[in-house]
Amino acid sequence: MRVGVFDSGAGGLTVAKSLLENPLFEEIVYYGDTARVPYGPKDSNTIIRYGLEAIEFFNNFDIDVLITACNTVSAYALNDMRQKAKYPVYGVIEPGIWALANKIKRQDANILIIGTRATINSGEYQKNLQNLGFKNLTSIQTGMLVPIVEEGILEGPVLDEMLNHYFNSIKTPDAIILGCTHFPLISKAIKNYFNSRPVLIHSGEAIVEYLLHKGYKKTDKKPEITIYASDNVEGLRNISKKWL
Ligand code: DGL
Repeated sequence: MRVGVFDSGAGGLTVAKSLLENPLFEEIVYYGDTARVPYGPKDSNTIIRYGLEAIEFFNNFDIDVLITACNTVSAYALNDMRQKAKYPVYGVIEPGIWALANKIKRQDANILIIGTRATINSGEYQKNLQNLGFKNLTSIQTGMLVPIVEEGILEGPVLDEMLNHYFNSIKTPDAIILGCTHFPLISKAIKNYFNSRPVLIHSGEAIVEYLLHKGYKKTDKKPEITIYASDNVEGLRNISKKWL
């Protein structure tokens, strides 16, 4: 089977990496909209339009299923994308919530949700977690972590200072939803910041578990990945060499 993986840029490679390490599909077609990243500060109608344009892009590839690795697109554009696509389209928010609910049984657990401005403003994680009965939710827009990761800063004082900027006034959470494609790359620093206490929810791991639960099967074949970008293909190729 051939899966499309769509992201606003390079961050979705963290989801592609999970699919490479836990093969469910023989072929992965990755598309990063590097010409228009970041999506996080954009309005909902723009994000929906970009999501629909991604469906047009994937029409060239005869994919069997599409994974929207981008949390921001998952928060706003899934319904519209599903109406336009001839194949199933999965986002990462529902799988993330499902993974959290499997790991955290106490409904009074402190849960921190971090993501882009658009993802946090959509309230999608918060609404769905509340519907499951989780009561203690904190959500923080941590968009500045995106360019830091893009710069390849995955540890050290600059990152630690930024984590301190965002997290210094909050109580150590029991779980953190890494609600942005880039954040798994700094999961070690985030965990260290909170003295290793919180359980971290990673979109890539969550979607693999979720698709297995939906009946997709593991394959023994190592997937082939082809990477496309709307701009700076060389840049994405270099990042993919480092991250994958
Ligand atoms: N891919 C985006 C997400 O997961 C982060 C980068 C962006 O703002 O486009 O929300």
